[in-house]
Amino acid sequence: MIVSVRKIVFVSSVLALMALTGCTTPSKEKAPQDTEAVKIEKVKAAEEKPAEVAAETQTKAEAPAAAEAPTPVEAPAVAEVPKPKAGGEEPFFEPNLLSEKEVVHPPFEWGDCTVCHKDKNPDKSKNYDLVMDTPDLCYQCHDKDLKEGKKFIHGPVAAGACTACHNPHKSPNKRLLVASNINELCTSCHTAKGEFLHRTDNIHPPVKDQCINCHDPHTEDYKFQLKEDGKKDLCLMCHADKKEWIEKANNKHGALNRTNGCQECHDPHGTGQPRMLKADSIMNMCLTCHNEPLKRDEDGVTLINMAKHLEENPDWHGPIQWGDCAMCHNPHGSPNFRMLKKPFPTTFYASFDVNNYICFECHESKKVTEEKTTEYTNFRNGTQNLHFVHVDKKKGRTCRACHDFHGTKDYPHHLRKKTKFGKINFPIRYIETPTGGSCAPACHARRYYDREKPIVNTK
Ligand code: HEC
Ligand code: HEC
Ligand code: HEC
Ligand code: HEC
Ligand code: HEC
Ligand code: HEC
Ligand code: HEC
Ligand code: HEC
Ligand code: HEC
Ligand code: HEC
Ligand code: HEC
Repeated sequence: MIVSVRKIVFVSSVLALMALTGCTTPSKEKAPQDTEAVKIEKVKAAEEKPAEVAAETQTKAEAPAAAEAPTPVEAPAVAEVPKPKAGGEEPFFEPNLLSEKEVVHPPFEWGDCTVCHKDKNPDKSKNYDLVMDTPDLCYQCHDKDLKEGKKFIHGPVAAGACTACHNPHKSPNKRLLVASNINELCTSCHTAKGEFLHRTDNIHPPVKDQCINCHDPHTEDYKFQLKEDGKKDLCLMCHADKKEWIEKANNKHGALNRTNGCQECHDPHGTGQPRMLKADSIMNMCLTCHNEPLKRDEDGVTLINMAKHLEENPDWHGPIQWGDCAMCHNPHGSPNFRMLKKPFPTTFYASFDVNNYICFECHESKKVTEEKTTEYTNFRNGTQNLHFVHVDKKKGRTCRACHDFHGTKDYPHHLRKKTKFGKINFPIRYIETPTGGSCAPACHARRYYDREKPIVNTK
């Protein structure tokens, strides 16, 4: 409550001051904000395609040439395993497995029906008993190991239901398949995934393409018959640029080392959210873990509880209002301090270099580099640029001395209440006026600035 009492006292003293100086409206000078808004919007648009996105390697099925219209294939009945649903509905998936000429299974083509049937001339209306059941029937000629030899076996394969997916005689589709599209085949049983594909916009492109980009239809050494471990290696198999990036980045993200790897944040199929994120915004994704203090693996440094910090400091910095932490941080790690997308000095003091500030991706750098200005910043005494005074020098203060880039509450302009210098946390005691302000940090006694009537500070 002390805060609000102070605020009232502060506001009334400002009003009193305004009355004294004959100032009528407490409106701020708008110029710097306006020029900035333009730049910020531009950057937001440019950021839509993050800088390090390179062309991804992809595994795509060769596009088969279309041929004659599909003739419906009767799927032989199989016990216990759900049957692919019969056609008749509008095809959702493009029939891309049609073979140029009908695929005939060689033993069927040879005409010796007794390889598989007891009768020499099996007939649908009569006896067509098999010499043995599937899958052994098929293993007479096909290698059992290729279908079941690995650690994880697909349900219908384990049940021996080869004919749930393959027609034993002939088919218009490649691989004697009973459907003209792999996804059609898979989702005929995995109906929930089918519904998901029908109703979701942001589907992972290789999923839209074909399920077997990642899953083997028969058997694999990884859970869910995946071609690689689905937590990370599978992803890096195609996203080779990410593999390189993650290995190269010296500021690694602990998130990637958690149990679910890439899947901590991404769903492999899609979620309906952009980038297949598991939360409804990038920020909410980040805050699922950053809702407690987190320890850095490398040096044991403890990072603040960001969710709590933002909750307690509701005046959020622009990009955070947009819910996009990734405008500044690269979630996959980066060569820069704190995984920032562009450099930022690591210390309280730093020799000024305009290229060392991520801030200037969105804010005009002249607010710091112009010694005199009436335009680029409101932090000035007359035309003397106080950002220049504090920052642009050999032993310049970095922005963190005065601002917090996530959220604040006590002062405007994202000025922080306290600044950390070594082990000490001292208050900056900022007071704003309509035409300037003042502060009294431990660095110096209270000093004043005024944009209209420059003040001579004696102390
Ligand atoms: C590679 C093994 C194989 C060969 C060779 C084979 N069949 Fe079959 N056939 C099957 C299987 C498996 C079924 C499904 C049985 C079931 O539904 O349980 C089947 C089912 C049938 C059926 C009943 C269902 C249908 O699709 O009409 C007929 C009729 C049939 N076969 C005829 C033939 C004839 C005629 C030949 C020889 C020209 C032949 N088959 C060769 C494996 C074979
Ligand atoms: C008598 C031997 C024999 C039996 C029994 C047999 N196949 Fe085949 N199958 C072949 C030959 C030969 C080929 C063609 C060579 C190849 O692709 O390996 C083939 C090819 C295939 C293909 C690939 C077709 C393509 O277009 O690439 C599939 C799928 C297949 N068989 C499934 C089965 C299934 C399912 C069974 C059991 C119902 C079965 N086969 C039983 C001999 C057999
Ligand atoms: C869930 C559906 C499904 C089941 C069940 C299934 N297959 Fe397949 N099979 C496929 C698909 C899809 C392909 C094509 C894979 C590709 O193009 O990479 C394929 C390819 C094949 C091929 C040709 C290429 C290869 O991998 O050698 C053979 C032979 C084959 N299957 C045999 C069998 C046998 C034998 C069984 C039963 C033990 C069986 N399949 C069960 C979906 C299935
Ligand atoms: C004939 C029906 C059928 C078809 C077609 C089919 N599946 Fe399956 N699938 C099953 C069954 C049954 C299981 C076992 C479910 C279980 O164990 O809970 C299974 C399990 C799976 C699993 C493991 C899920 C789990 O929770 O363990 C994956 C992944 C999978 N299938 C992918 C595919 C893909 C990819 C295709 C297309 C190539 C496909 N399926 C086609 C019936 C089918
Ligand atoms: C980009 C690779 C990729 C593609 C393509 C893909 N999946 Fe998966 N799928 C995965 C991964 C990774 C998992 C394991 C998820 C986990 O660890 O919980 C998985 C798990 C599954 C499961 C079991 C868990 C669940 O989500 O129900 C099923 C069923 C499945 N996939 C079906 C499909 C079907 C059907 C398709 C095609 C429409 C498909 N997948 C395409 C990567 C893929
Ligand atoms: C079979 C290859 C393949 C595999 C495996 C794969 N991806 Fe992808 N992924 C692609 C392709 C192709 C694209 C589309 C091109 C692009 O956006 O770069 C893509 C796009 C993405 C995108 C951007 C989607 C968007 O909305 O822009 C994300 C995020 C992604 N993949 C994450 C993953 C994760 C996480 C895994 C592991 C679970 C994974 N990928 C596995 C091929 C793959
Ligand atoms: C901490 C959460 C998190 C983890 C873990 C994570 N990502 Fe991402 N990923 C994101 C976010 C957030 C974006 C969107 C970035 C943006 O908009 O700038 C993204 C974007 C992507 C993209 C598409 C855009 C781009 O940057 O190329 C791909 C591909 C991708 N991630 C792959 C992966 C892979 C592969 C892994 C595992 C090695 C992984 N991600 C792990 C959060 C994560
Ligand atoms: C799955 C949990 C998880 C998620 C989600 C997550 N993080 Fe982290 N993050 C961590 C852990 C654990 C650490 C500390 C360990 C480390 O990085 O060394 C960390 C560290 C960081 C660091 C400090 C890195 C450094 O080099 O000092 C930043 C910055 C960060 N995360 C930002 C983000 C952002 C932005 C997002 C959302 C895109 C995010 N995190 C999402 C777990 C997560
Ligand atoms: C405007 C750019 C910007 C945005 C947006 C941003 N950050 Fe940061 N973040 C920084 C900078 C700069 C630092 C380094 C601060 C320092 O050391 O003084 C940092 C530091 C961090 C740290 C380490 C804090 C510590 O204790 O040292 C975490 C964790 C973090 N950010 C998470 C996030 C999350 C989560 C979001 C989204 C809610 C986010 N950041 C949005 C610029 C940003
Ligand atoms: C991705 C774009 C972006 C980046 C990078 C960025 N900002 Fe901002 N900043 C904004 C936006 C948008 C606003 C306006 C909304 C607001 O007041 O937060 C803003 C406002 C501010 C304000 C308050 C202006 C006022 O008059 O109230 C300060 C101070 C500030 N940023 C400092 C920084 C610092 C320091 C950095 C570097 C660590 C930085 N910003 C990096 C987008 C950015
Ligand atoms: C010595 C303290 C101090 C330092 C260091 C500092 N600022 Fe400021 N900044 C201020 C004050 C005070 C204001 C408020 C000016 C006003 O409106 O009266 C301000 C205002 C801003 C604004 C709002 C627009 C404007 O210029 O009036 C932005 C953006 C900003 N600062 C960015 C930065 C960036 C980026 C850095 C680091 C390169 C930085 N500041 C370093 C004190 C500081």
